[in-house]
Parts: sequence; structure tokens; C-alpha cells
Amino acid sequence: MSTHIGARQGQIAPTVLLPGDPLRARHIADTMLKDVSCFNEVRGMLGYTGFYGDKRVSIMGSGMGIPSLSIYVNELVTEYYAKTLIRIGTCGAIQPYLSVGDIILAMASSTDSHINKLRFAGMDYAPTASFHLLLKAYEAAQARGAAVYVGGILSSDTFYEDDPEWWKKWATYGVLACEMETAGLYTLAAKFGVDALSILTVSDSLVTGESATSEQRERDFPLMAEIALKISP
Ligand code: HPA
Repeated sequence: MSTHIGARQGQIAPTVLLPGDPLRARHIADTMLKDVSCFNEVRGMLGYTGFYGDKRVSIMGSGMGIPSLSIYVNELVTEYYAKTLIRIGTCGAIQPYLSVGDIILAMASSTDSHINKLRFAGMDYAPTASFHLLLKAYEAAQARGAAVYVGGILSSDTFYEDDPEWWKKWATYGVLACEMETAGLYTLAAKFGVDALSILTVSDSLVTGESATSEQRERDFPLMAEIALKISP
């Protein structure tokens, strides 16, 4: 057991998929993996290990935001020896050409969080994806005929902003979409020398106000999980 994860040593595979929502972890484990066992129920942050073909993989909720994800990533890597971490989550598009259901592979993540300002004594750090995972995910998404975009995203500390136009500055600088975790994931992966990638589906557009229906979410989430499982080492 670690402080926030109830697994025994060896129960967690070296590759861990990280949806924000633990119930999505359970759903993906139930529907896409074989020989599944649950390794964590602490705080309801469900985690499962199973097989995708002959690959042993784990999937666990990360919770929302950089602080929650960072707690789990720290413990997964330092106490359970995870080597590859793949976030699968949703994002809000901030470019006009992006639509609900599009897939975004986060090449780099800017952030309004102070977490790296604290870490680097006020200086900037550029959290980036593992290139070989990014390349494989791009190829897998294209092979699947998915609408896939690669670029920078924003990991924000706030979901409900005071200023409805807050995202426009980031959009001007080419950022594709916003979510709340990736900058934390990429920073910790770099610190610990492990691989990381965020595969995101556009669930809403801040440009048009469009939002995914529950049918769209049910269709889009398994596609992201499939890409993540296909590229898992
Ligand atoms: N903001 C932050 N995170 C998100 C959003 C958003 O608009 N949509 C999906 N995740």
C-alpha cells in the first residue's frame, strides 16, 4: 500500500491509463480488458489491472486537476514502478476548426497553475509528451480514421472562470484546447524519467458553445482508450 493507493506490490502493470473519472476506468476495464482485477478502492479512485490481448495494463482514475493527478502519478511511479502513463480525458476546444469528438494529442502543455513556478523558483518549464508515444498514437488514430490533431494545450487550474473570454489569449498563441491535468503529468514523467502522453477528446467548444451529447461521449471515450491500449508497450 502507498498513502493513497491500496494495491500490493506487483498488482499494478508498468503501463497505466489514467482517465479522470474512476467510473470510466471501471467501464474500460469491464469492456476492453480480460482477466480484470481491482487493485484500488481507496477514496473511490478505482484502479484495475487486466489484459489487452497479451499486454498487461492497468487503468485508474486520476481525479480532476493537477494536484489530484500528481498524487497518484507520484505514488504510481515511485512506489509501484509505473513506466508509461497515458492520460485519456476530455478537453474544451479553443480553436474554431475543432469540433466535438475530435482527438487531440497534447504535444506540450502550458499552464496557469503555479506548480512549476514553485518547482523552478519562478522560471518556466515546458512540459512535453514522450515523442515515441505521440508518434504511435498519431499513427494509430489515423489508421482508425479519427480526426486527430497534434499541438499545444492548456492545463488550467479553473473550470469556471470569471471572464468568459479568458481563453482567447491562449487561442491567439495557437493553443488547441484546455483541460486540467496534462502539465502535471508531463512534468512528473520528466522528473521520474518515465513516458507520458495525454490523448484527449473534445467534449465541448469554448468557441461555439457546442457540447458532446451522452451518445457522443459513449462513442468517443472507447476510441481514446483503444488508441491508448494499442500504443501501450
Ligand atoms: N475546461 C477545462 N477542462 C475541460 C474543459 C474546459 O472547458 N472541457 C473539458 N475539460
